[in-house]
Amino acid sequence: MKVLVVGGGGREHALCWALKRSPNTRLVCAPGSDAIARLAERRAVGVHEIDKLAELCDSEKPDLVVVGPEAPLAAGLSDALAARGHLVFGPSRQAAAIECSKAFAKTFMAKHRIPTARFETFSDLGDAEWFIDELFEKEKAAKVVLKASGLASGKGVLICEQSQEAKAHARAMLEGSVLGGAGKTLVIEEFLRGREATLMALCDGERVLPLAACEDHKTIFDGDRGPMTGGMGVISPTPALDDATCRRVYETILLPTVRGLGAEGKPFRGLLYAGLMITADGPQVIEFNCRFGDPEIQALVRRLDDDLVELLHASARGELPSSVRFSDQTSVCVVMTAPGYPGETTTGQAITGLDEASSLKSVEIFHAGTRFDGKSWRTHSGRVLGVTAVGKNLDEARQRTYAAVEKIHFDGAHYRHDIGGRAV
Ligand code: AMP
Ligand code: GLY
Repeated sequence: MKVLVVGGGGREHALCWALKRSPNTRLVCAPGSDAIARLAERRAVGVHEIDKLAELCDSEKPDLVVVGPEAPLAAGLSDALAARGHLVFGPSRQAAAIECSKAFAKTFMAKHRIPTARFETFSDLGDAEWFIDELFEKEKAAKVVLKASGLASGKGVLICEQSQEAKAHARAMLEGSVLGGAGKTLVIEEFLRGREATLMALCDGERVLPLAACEDHKTIFDGDRGPMTGGMGVISPTPALDDATCRRVYETILLPTVRGLGAEGKPFRGLLYAGLMITADGPQVIEFNCRFGDPEIQALVRRLDDDLVELLHASARGELPSSVRFSDQTSVCVVMTAPGYPGETTTGQAITGLDEASSLKSVEIFHAGTRFDGKSWRTHSGRVLGVTAVGKNLDEARQRTYAAVEKIHFDGAHYRHDIGGRAV
């Protein structure tokens, strides 16, 4: 089977690694990366070039197209390819709104009674300020959450402890002076208390097949301190989301979401990511994504015991099976970032120790942002590497992962030392 993967980050490297394990798979990746080039043929078309991607698929004639990131889904890549007769894993533009417009997602959840934080949507500063006062003064909230409605690469959320701070941020977001205008529609919501976890599911428009539970660590520094990032490390499974809670997430969140989208004429085919807060009142949705979580998928592929090509092909065809197998091992992923991330980063530093690290027992390293200059690997973006290992339990998996991380060096390399630390 010929599979064309769109994207070139850590998620797509992990996906290509897993897809390549399927027998007789030929992989093509656009644009890919120097690391992905070791698994797939590269084509120089970027994820934003919708017309060129469609032409590429016409000439490559893949049996399946797997779209990695959200931006091309939001831009209608899936629709464009389907219209030309290609089989695509990844939702239509309308279904992708579950991630790409937080205003849509929150309104949808309210309408379908899917548990989520209480919220209001704003485009007017006066109204937003009134709601901020309401939450802080009348309801004595300790914190309020401000979210840009549009896509913001995981940087569109601010948690504020003071009314003045919240109002200043609301003004900057609504004026479009931050986040490239993604916050011109603003969602303000109640702060949820609990432990975060992720449940991702394959969907075929009707059926929902949950994958194994995992837990990301979102802030840049140990102890859950510092600014939010795209995710600094993952464990799977996690005590935050036991089997009974997964069942509840399936029944109260995943299934009603896919049924609701279907009923609204936006059938969801692809990967539905539920970012959850496990509160005293049960699981609530923090956010939905319309694609594999990264780094979640880097940890998950290490436990997947089924053929990913078959699963994604079945999902795209509308014929999902009723079960998927994961090993009972524990998987850990630790993300290494360049100096400055999640702010302005400096890149281009030489990376050493990759061969030694990847030769350690059960270790696989996925490249989020590197390039190979002919002699050595160099950092190429803020998120650089995802180092993964599996073990018979969390202790073993953590030990193996950190032993590999410690072998890898580049100037200013940063990683969290406490991935999986909450679990014990
Ligand atoms: P999001 O982009 O919506 O996933 O938000 C990014 C991060 O902000 C989440 O992973 C949470 O850590 C935090 N967050 C978002 N919304 C809330 C909320 N309502 N209550 C508490 N934390 C939140
Ligand atoms: N790790 C969070 C995300 O993929 O959005």
